[in-house]
Amino acid sequence: MDFPIELFRGADTPFYYYDLDLLRRTLDAINTSVPASNFKVHYAMKANANPIILEQINNAGLGIDAVSGGEIKAAVAAGFDPAKIVFAGVGKTDAEILYGLKTGISTFNVESVPELEVISQIAVSLDKTANVAIRVNPNIDAHTHHYITTGLAENKFGINLEQLDSVIERCKELRGVELVGLHFHIGSQITDNTPFAVLCERINSLQNELEAKGVRLKTINVGGGLGIDYDDPDKNPIPDFKSYFEVFSRNLSIRPGQEVHFELGRSVVAQCGSLITKVLYVKKGTAKQFAIVDAGMTDLIRPALYQAYHKIENITSDGLPEKYDVVGPICESSDVFQEDAVLPEVKRGDLLALRSAGAYGEIMASQYNLRRLPGAITK
Ligand code: LLP
Repeated sequence: MDFPIELFRGADTPFYYYDLDLLRRTLDAINTSVPASNFKVHYAMKANANPIILEQINNAGLGIDAVSGGEIKAAVAAGFDPAKIVFAGVGKTDAEILYGLKTGISTFNVESVPELEVISQIAVSLDKTANVAIRVNPNIDAHTHHYITTGLAENKFGINLEQLDSVIERCKELRGVELVGLHFHIGSQITDNTPFAVLCERINSLQNELEAKGVRLKTINVGGGLGIDYDDPDKNPIPDFKSYFEVFSRNLSIRPGQEVHFELGRSVVAQCGSLITKVLYVKKGTAKQFAIVDAGMTDLIRPALYQAYHKIENITSDGLPEKYDVVGPICESSDVFQEDAVLPEVKRGDLLALRSAGAYGEIMASQYNLRRLPGAITK
């Protein structure tokens, strides 16, 4: 990636840099890879809710997958049509449900019977009917990091297959809800399409069973999860959306008139973002040398939380390569971005770029140690 270093020189570090041209090309790739008009992509806003990013995503015509009242509000503020907003989450508050209903969002992805009952009750009080999709836990191993696997029986998410019939019955009894679909999500950063094909098979047999009982569904929401190339972002700046969508058009038995919904987060925004940080000190230890930078786990928590790898580049040096542990200033031993990173000689004042940080980066920043939240620069 070519960084506009002149633009960076006077800026307060650390900050996120977003390459909007790459974002637009990624969105174009999504739109041109979608194989049919009944495939609808909702952007999972939890990955990045920066208004400038949301504006581009809205311009590209995607909908929104929101997981809080705050996200619904940000989507509306960014100009998204409420009819393209779905609201998911295992613990929606009464106030959030009320707000979603008043805003006129399209669907609530429901994760438990008590939640279904509360949605119905609030909808009836407003003289409305809420469209609901039941989140089903399909018990599929997505072969990704333990913390971001969501579709296993042991996870807190969704309704288990054995309980599905009784939940569908409950939908019929409740006046304030209408069952419109099923919702699935098996995990995140999935780089091999096989688990998605397994998901399709699981959905097909489930639909057959439900149809035999007279249940028809307008939407099948297959969630998100498409992974990106953290190792080599310049080789693969845009994920292979075509192959991903093809898995579903090939393997999912879609009924006439049925819509297939996708909730992509990481694959939309990860590669367009980098965290830019300044080197404060180079410290030589006995066996190691440390590049101590001004960004920490408060700005990008993924390495500390998931042992995630973000490629690091020294964008202001062309010196000879040396090995560094790149560490932040936070008072936590886990505040390490990378051990033994090989970088062109690092000096105080150099700028480093932590790549592929557009998803789950800025949005997960905290003020721990009373630090300033990172800013953002776009081009
Ligand atoms: N739909 C549901 C129901 C989800 O739970 C998620 C992500 C998505 C869609 C979007 O998934 P994506 O396309 O981004 O994989 N903070 C973690 C990732 C957490 C993902 C949570 N759920 C990370 O930094 O890796």
